[in-house]
Amino acid sequence: MNAQETRCWRWNQEPPRAQCVGEAREIVRKTLADWGLIALADEVTLIVSELMANAVIHARSRVKLTLAVNGAYLSGEITDHGPGWIPAASPEVADVDSESGRGLGIVAALTHSWGAAPNLDGQGMRVWFAVRKPA
Ligand SMILES: Nc1ncnc2c1ncn2[C@@H]1O[C@H](COP(=O)(O)OP(=O)(O)OP(=O)(O)O)[C@@H](O)[C@H]1O
Ligand SMILES: [Mg+2]
Repeated sequence: MNAQETRCWRWNQEPPRAQCVGEAREIVRKTLADWGLIALADEVTLIVSELMANAVIHARSRVKLTLAVNGAYLSGEITDHGPGWIPAASPEVADVDSESGRGLGIVAALTHSWGAAPNLDGQGMRVWFAVRKPA
């Protein structure tokens, strides 16, 4: 494995197919195996799954997944072209009986750091995360 590598995948259908979330999960497992980081596969699969699901459900636009390994971190970014939103500084805690509203809390709990920002070229958002590689 190279010390530094970046790969990206695009789903260009609008609205996106729900299956792209499962396809992204498979991509994560395969890519982390290629990079010798299978120990991170369960948590990164869950993170990417939540963020891809948000792009499909809330942005309803084409979506791009980028994964990168660099130094001490495995990082990723999910870019959409939806309406965007302004995330709370820390994810809202979902009501105990709510059926939704937990995805970003899961992302926050599993990552070293994460964030969201508007795309620089206009519409949509990118949500990024970084996870520490095992020593
Ligand atoms: N890519 C996105 N585009 C637009 N809005 C988004 C996006 N991602 C998240 N949001 C907004 O942030 C809110 C919180 O997201 P979060 O993933 O925590 O919960 P949820 O998607 O509503 O429910 P759950 O993930 O538990 O099924 C969403 O309800 C939505 O309003
Ligand atoms: Mg969600």
